[in-house]
Amino acid sequence: MKRTRTSEFGTVSRSGHDASKFYAKRIYEDVDSVGKEHSPIIDENQPSNLDVIHCADSRNMDHLPDRSIHLMITSPPYNVGKEYDDDLSLLEYGRLLSDVLRETHRVLVNGGRACVNIANVGRSPYIPLHSLVIDSARACGLLMRGEVIWDKGASSGSSCAWGSWKSASNPVLRDVHEYILVFTKGSFKRTASGENSIGRDEFLEFTKSVWRFPAASARKANHPAPFPLELPRRLIQLYSFVGDVVLDPFMGSGTTAQAANMLGRRYVGYEINKNYVEQSMRLLGE
Ligand SMILES: C[S@@+](CC[C@H](N)C(=O)[O-])C[C@H]1O[C@@H](n2cnc3c(N)ncnc32)[C@H](O)[C@@H]1O
Repeated sequence: MKRTRTSEFGTVSRSGHDASKFYAKRIYEDVDSVGKEHSPIIDENQPSNLDVIHCADSRNMDHLPDRSIHLMITSPPYNVGKEYDDDLSLLEYGRLLSDVLRETHRVLVNGGRACVNIANVGRSPYIPLHSLVIDSARACGLLMRGEVIWDKGASSGSSCAWGSWKSASNPVLRDVHEYILVFTKGSFKRTASGENSIGRDEFLEFTKSVWRFPAASARKANHPAPFPLELPRRLIQLYSFVGDVVLDPFMGSGTTAQAANMLGRRYVGYEINKNYVEQSMRLLGE
């Protein structure tokens, strides 16, 4: 196959593309090491308990050995006054995220992925929690591999907090999106390969950086802030092999575990609230 090169004008087709010229540019000089931890040696462990949700604080995931998780998917508490939120200052909240992301980095296998669903909050001023997640993840040694804008469309609620109505005095943006931030440990490529379960059409759709599907109903999930099954379903299909172990350190109503079950993956979860753990395990039939 004829290899294309990065040019000043971009390239039409990228199959067999040689990007070495681009990665040699100075813009990468100060960026975290790219794939330096890649090693051909498969050095993975297995958690002693699989398909379980630990009722514990995920700042300490001692149940899990180093390099035992292939994919982490989560939505942390947003610290906005939900029944499980602790009313933390931004600094304290950043510390919670860092603690959990540091543990995530420890338990991920080389080439393992971490996907964090987060929304920005407030208006005056706007607090970009997604940038806090990105900074924390990078400080914990995770490398960023992409960002999905989840367009929640009409399901994002009919907020009419538009500030000044039809006036430039103080119009306010009404977010209809959230983020899914995707990171990797060490290598961008998984060390060992496995059986894929994603088909052509899903691959074409899920590799696009804007996803459109509705939010989940809190009433139906009996949880204040569930994400829809479609969110972990897409991430599991795209980023893991059949039989892989999927972790959610903020398991809530168990959506990540349900998706993992459905797609032939194993799961491990952490959730601090005993009622949510019991409800999820009942639903999962464990
Ligand atoms: C945004 S919700 C997750 C919702 C979940 N994605 C779902 O679909 O149901 C965050 C969850 O994290 C839990 N949580 C908060 N702090 C925690 C901690 N330190 N360790 C473990 N779980 C925690 C909360 O009880 C809450 O259920």
